Amino acid sequence: MEDRHRYLFFIFAIIHYVQAQQGFISLDCGLPSNEPPYIEPVTGLVFSSDADHIPSGISGRIQKNLEAVHIKPYLFLRYFPDGLRNCYTLDVLQNRRYMIKAVFVYGNYDGYNDYPSFDLYLGPNKWVRVDLEGKVNGSVEEIIHIPSSNSLQICLVKTGNSLPFISALELRLLRNDTYVVQDVSLKHLFRRYYRQSDRLIRYPDDVYDRVWSPFFLPEWTQITTSLDVNNSNNYEPPKAALTSAATPGDNGTRLTIIWTLDNPDEQIHLYVHFAELEPVGENTDEALRTLFTRTFYFVVNGKISYDESITPLDLAVSTVETVVNKCDGGNCSLQLVRSEASPGVRVPLVNAMEAFTAIKFPHSETNPDDVISIKVIQATYELSRVDWQGDPCLPQQFLWTGLNCSYMNMSTSPRIISLDLSSHKLTGKIVPDIQNLTQLQKLDLSNNKLTGGVPEFLANMKSLLFINLSNNNLVGSIPQALLDRKNLKLEFEGNPKLCATGPCNSSSGNKETTVIAPVAAAIAIFIAVLVLIIVFIKKRPSSIRALHPSRANLSLENKKRRITYSEILLMTNNFERVIGEGGFGVVYHGYLNDSEQVAVKVLSPSSSQGYKEFKAEVELLLRVHHINLVDMNNMVWWF
Ligand SMILES: *[C@@H]1O[C@H](CO)[C@@H](O)[C@H](O)[C@H]1NC(C)=O
Ligand SMILES: *[C@@H]1O[C@H](CO)[C@@H](O)[C@H](O)[C@H]1NC(C)=O
Ligand SMILES: *[C@@H]1O[C@H](CO)[C@@H](O)[C@H](O)[C@H]1NC(C)=O
Ligand SMILES: *[C@@H]1O[C@H](CO)[C@@H](O)[C@H](O)[C@H]1NC(C)=O
Ligand SMILES: *[C@@H]1O[C@H](CO)[C@@H](O)[C@H](O)[C@H]1NC(C)=O
Ligand SMILES: *[C@@H]1O[C@H](CO)[C@@H](O)[C@H](O)[C@H]1NC(C)=O
Ligand SMILES: *[C@@H]1O[C@H](CO)[C@@H](O)[C@H](O)[C@H]1NC(C)=O
Ligand SMILES: *[C@@H]1O[C@H](CO)[C@@H](O)[C@H](O)[C@H]1NC(C)=O
Ligand SMILES: *[C@@H]1O[C@H](CO)[C@@H](O)[C@H](O)[C@H]1NC(C)=O
Ligand SMILES: *[C@@H]1O[C@H](CO)[C@@H](O)[C@H](O)[C@H]1NC(C)=O
Repeated sequence: MEDRHRYLFFIFAIIHYVQAQQGFISLDCGLPSNEPPYIEPVTGLVFSSDADHIPSGISGRIQKNLEAVHIKPYLFLRYFPDGLRNCYTLDVLQNRRYMIKAVFVYGNYDGYNDYPSFDLYLGPNKWVRVDLEGKVNGSVEEIIHIPSSNSLQICLVKTGNSLPFISALELRLLRNDTYVVQDVSLKHLFRRYYRQSDRLIRYPDDVYDRVWSPFFLPEWTQITTSLDVNNSNNYEPPKAALTSAATPGDNGTRLTIIWTLDNPDEQIHLYVHFAELEPVGENTDEALRTLFTRTFYFVVNGKISYDESITPLDLAVSTVETVVNKCDGGNCSLQLVRSEASPGVRVPLVNAMEAFTAIKFPHSETNPDDVISIKVIQATYELSRVDWQGDPCLPQQFLWTGLNCSYMNMSTSPRIISLDLSSHKLTGKIVPDIQNLTQLQKLDLSNNKLTGGVPEFLANMKSLLFINLSNNNLVGSIPQALLDRKNLKLEFEGNPKLCATGPCNSSSGNKETTVIAPVAAAIAIFIAVLVLIIVFIKKRPSSIRALHPSRANLSLENKKRRITYSEILLMTNNFERVIGEGGFGVVYHGYLNDSEQVAVKVLSPSSSQGYKEFKAEVELLLRVHHINLVDMNNMVWWF
């Protein structure tokens, strides 16, 4: 009973927490899929297994003796021994701003003590190289990014010998009026609050689960307050990060913050959060107020960057954004300089600050309709190719096997133009979702076990130029509209139950057409050859062997004997003597074995009747014996 109550309480707690964390996705990568979601005790965040979001990878766990410094979600990890690119697919809100965090704690999970290095991609674009060398406590990558579709792909790409892995994925939906930048995403550089402390601040202190690290230089002077600081502006920095601030020490009038960049050309976006922690009393007189007002301005890399001077609000946050375009030699500095208008005793202060580098993601993702369609096709046919992950067309070196795409330019979404699923053991029907691949030119479904009919929609796919349906178990007739398509090449042989043309009927009828379909095709070709031969014979009878040596050896079975074309030539002495002209062919005189006289009838190329009738006549002759007819034993036909 007690247990049950505890369990119920647990469920309730989870629901409560999940509701509070709307817009959060917290995945404990590598957590076995049968483990239920859990509440991480330090943060209260509800983490769940990543198994539903990725088709590949193996669960691992960091070494026991290294566990102590990490929270539970970072103890398990997922590593990827197979494939070059392995991708998570996450449901997100299109065109909304997210903070995306990926956590990597190696923890010698494989016992090799060899810190891996690999690439991280967001959809088709490289986000960052993850190099864990020397990162004994792991590493975190964070970006503020707006997904362009409602499906976000985060891919780990193998770059060398080491295996990619990941410990946790954390997505946080942000307000769309914060961190607003044009055409770039914001890669985390640092997020600090200024206090002498060793406490990291994150959720639930920060409603968006941003992680704030304490930072303080010995030459600075710290001020703090025990009063409540109103943190309600659109950024909502956590109150805990605002109740302390750094001011210059040693009677200085400017506060200098410096940092370095690997790439000096990177553009930096700064978000600086201020709150006055030493408010002047309400009823202080005007003159004193002016004296005590803290007013300062920004100097970035030695230049005044922010025209207006800044006056922090009393116990309430204000946030200033500024952009730094170039840091000489990678050395960046921000100075807060006391304004001339603030001659009093108050020096500048800063409570918290975030810095990001701007990162461009130039490649457009594959057309989202194409992506949905190909994923439905993949799911329907249960295609489990290890390389069918992430964006189907990009990067081009990871183009899904069996696809081909059109690439206009980087800002145009690639389109799928070719789909080759031949020999994939596909079963079931031809999926209707293929028709949503509206730019498809080539469709190869040959050598599978597809059943059902040939769908009409194929005829309406305007871009299609080639369809190969050979060697399946398709049934019924091919839609006339499809056969009528002029510029479309259609292959369908090897489908025993498929009717080539016209309506198909009962199963017995089907059987007959199926046998005849290929035969008829063969014969059509054959008659064409025969026509050639005959035309030639009439012109230059002696050259026949040279003309068609292979055909000349073709033989057909007669119930009585097997006769080759060259034998016929011999028999009739190159069709020397015409003894009659029947319905659809000329009859020649000839000798069999140099003694027996025979009549040789050859299907006339000009005959309006075809092979079928000719064959019918032959069959009739075989059955009917009549005195006025040449004895069947002496009737030779060749067609
Ligand atoms: C790793 O974390 C431990 C405990 O927090 C800390 O003492 C140590 O300095 C950290 N190591 C590095 C390289 O950051
Ligand atoms: C944020 O985006 C949502 C959905 O697009 C929109 O309804 C809302 O008005 C936006 N808010 C702001 C502040 O832009
Ligand atoms: C905090 O500031 C906001 C906006 O200035 C205001 O609406 C709100 O009432 C303030 N909250 C408190 C507790 O004073
Ligand atoms: C700061 O200025 C005051 C008054 O001018 C002086 O007495 C004090 O020594 C100075 N402190 C430092 C650290 O320079
Ligand atoms: C950058 O700073 C480092 C030390 O912080 C210094 O050695 C270097 O000369 C500086 N580079 C430039 C271009 O200022
Ligand atoms: C294909 O397109 C049709 C009509 O536009 C739509 O109803 C259907 O949902 C689409 N299917 C997929 C998989 O996108
Ligand atoms: C993909 O299409 C391009 C352009 O149409 C063509 O040059 C290329 O050979 C095709 N690749 C494959 C694998 O079919
Ligand atoms: C990319 O191609 C599209 C369509 O042709 C065109 O409208 C667009 O201007 C091109 N963009 C660039 C950057 O070339
Ligand atoms: C169509 O598929 C069959 C079976 O895979 C194959 O033998 C044939 O060559 C294909 N036709 C074309 C034109 O690729
Ligand atoms: C099937 O075909 C035969 C002859 O080809 C025709 O007489 C018959 O009406 C057809 N049956 C159906 C159901 O179409």
